[in-house]
Amino acid sequence: MSDAYPAVPAGLGPEPMPHLPPEAAVRLQGFLTRMEELSGSFIGYPCSQDYDYPEIAPFLRFSMNNVGDPFGESFFRENSFEFEREVVGFFQRRLRAPEGETWGYVTAGGTEGNLYGLYLARELYPDGMVYYSEHTHYSAAKIVRVLGARSIMIRGRDDGEIDYDDLYETLQMRRDVPPIILANIGTTMHGAVDSLPLIRAMLKDLAITRHYIHADAALSGMILPFVKDPQQFGFDAGIDSIAVSGHKFIGSPMPCGVAVAQQRHVDRVARSVEYVGCRDTTIAGSRNALAPLVLWSAINRWGEDGLGERVRRSIAMADYAIERFAAYGIRAWRHRNSVTVVFPRPSAEVIGRWQIAPSRDIAHIITMPHVTRGMVSAAVADVAASLGAEGNATP
Ligand SMILES: Cc1ncc(COP(=O)(O)O)c(C=O)c1O
Repeated sequence: MSDAYPAVPAGLGPEPMPHLPPEAAVRLQGFLTRMEELSGSFIGYPCSQDYDYPEIAPFLRFSMNNVGDPFGESFFRENSFEFEREVVGFFQRRLRAPEGETWGYVTAGGTEGNLYGLYLARELYPDGMVYYSEHTHYSAAKIVRVLGARSIMIRGRDDGEIDYDDLYETLQMRRDVPPIILANIGTTMHGAVDSLPLIRAMLKDLAITRHYIHADAALSGMILPFVKDPQQFGFDAGIDSIAVSGHKFIGSPMPCGVAVAQQRHVDRVARSVEYVGCRDTTIAGSRNALAPLVLWSAINRWGEDGLGERVRRSIAMADYAIERFAAYGIRAWRHRNSVTVVFPRPSAEVIGRWQIAPSRDIAHIITMPHVTRGMVSAAVADVAASLGAEGNATP
């Protein structure tokens, strides 16, 4: 569409913006220093920080907006749809989504992707029942409230996977109600993957043919495609939709994500909107147009091999963390293909210093690509000291 119109003559633009007052600039510089200091202890949350995207800075001068369906055309031409389509295409291939049968867009994060998946499911089965395990991200409970959907929380195993017996028994009791199952492909606290083959086997065994499976693959959705022996995670495992965060494994200065769903489900909710001249298939109207540029840049800079190498290094770093804990006699563990290392909850002081997320009696560190051996050794030593563990402090 952009080539279809002659360019408007240059020189019609506004006056330059005023400079930042000196005291405001100083304040911002102080804030930058604070962020730089904090990044040295960023080991508890699943956000990569091994990037820089200077090529995106010039685009801060434009009111870009990806309102509408990135696979359509819009009257709002300051968009980055062409890059968004390539990002979605990359995720579709990695998530084993059949070409031509699935659709996707860049979201504001994993939560929006989960909302999108459950919205499509609720539109398909208005009387459906949402099932999710107690280890599911807290956004799920909020989303079912927003959607006004009925839901049942299933017990979780201690290692973070859903309790399959509880799921089976609960499904069995309500065979007349279409189940909408939110499967965790990497839980927040334990990095656990709910077994899609087992879930599908249950549905088959109970002869439930009307069902929907949404995969919450916020972090592991960009890890499992790059390992040799992944747990099942994608469309080839029978899912209807999936949500992956962009700011987690790939890494982005602004929260973002990608939602991919079966095209036929998306077509049910699509509406045509004259105001922007395109199909409305997304949750938000105005959408971040810089996020697709960031993800596109990352994918092109690292390439398939580079992304795979980051995954391998991160998993090796998780094993290093477990070894360091073992040297202090502390049992730490991780799931197969996970970079989430679980260990006993340390003191509040250590939690604050290393930005560690606790839950009940456990805590975790997540060895994202920016995490170094030095950071791991220092964090583990602090955790060990707070737990009163003694051992070999020399890495
Ligand atoms: C498993 C899981 N799902 C969903 C989310 C929410 O993702 P976001 O923070 O991108 O909205 C998270 C965030 O940590 C998560 O761990």
